[in-house]
Amino acid sequence: MLKKPLILKAENINKQFGSSYVLKEVNLEIGIGQIIGLVGESGCGKTTFARIIAGLETALGGNLFLENINLLAEEKRSKKLKQKIQMIFQNAAGSFNPKYKIIDSLKQASVEHNLPFEPEALFEQIGLSLDLKDRFPHELSGGQMQRAAIARAIACKPSLLIADEPTSALDVSIRRHILNLIKDLRAKQNLSCLIITHDLPSLKGLADYVYVMNNGSIVESGTTEQILNCPQESYTKRLIMAIPSINPADKTFEKFKTLH
Ligand SMILES: Nc1ncnc2c1ncn2[C@@H]1O[C@H](COP(=O)(O)OP(=O)(O)OP(=O)(O)O)[C@@H](O)[C@H]1O
Ligand SMILES: [Mg+2]
Repeated sequence: MLKKPLILKAENINKQFGSSYVLKEVNLEIGIGQIIGLVGESGCGKTTFARIIAGLETALGGNLFLENINLLAEEKRSKKLKQKIQMIFQNAAGSFNPKYKIIDSLKQASVEHNLPFEPEALFEQIGLSLDLKDRFPHELSGGQMQRAAIARAIACKPSLLIADEPTSALDVSIRRHILNLIKDLRAKQNLSCLIITHDLPSLKGLADYVYVMNNGSIVESGTTEQILNCPQESYTKRLIMAIPSINPADKTFEKFKTLH
């Protein structure tokens, strides 16, 4: 079950684009210091939901509490509120100004929120060599770019980090590094995190709780263990059945697969 107190509570969030309902009565909770996974097929509404939390999209009804503040009731989010929720975008490279050196983008994030800018500590924390600070976004590898995106988010000292597919463009070894980095931030700073991913196995040993979204609705939620090993809904079962067994040594899903 979810740990209290909560950092975020979404209640009955709806969203409509034109005539189509993209989110339908979405309920989701994140406890302070928890890592929560949000999974579901492409186009089911994950990024839209994340953008609503980050204040980049409006919602159609519902409540969204950050601690005890209803974000949807705020006419315009204050700087302080904006600082508290940081998002790592699905396309990390595209979220950086191509004309700015990495260090300048990171500095801008700190300055905007009147926070001290400590590049050495920041680069060290995310495992990025300080030699890269004067590079432009196109001069970084995918893994380096993803680290820079995490650095920019944590430079703002957020209470909640939303990571939208933080590893989908990366190879397996770098993926682990990035996810371990998020785990580390939680351990050291009690950071709360919502991780959106297609990659269900990557949540193993990382997320405390997982929500499964299908066609704009949460169809199932449970501890990561429950969702991966004992899914109840046919949609979740299908998602798990679709995971390729690339590594024959990984028997995580074999038990489930042989039973179905
Ligand atoms: N600004 C927009 N205007 C109209 N439709 C949109 C807009 N943004 C998203 N959509 C639609 O809303 C639906 C949900 O999109 P969303 O990006 O939230 O999906 P997703 O779950 O993040 O998918 P993926 O896993 O591919 O990133 C899709 O059908 C998409 O085409
Ligand atoms: Mg998306």
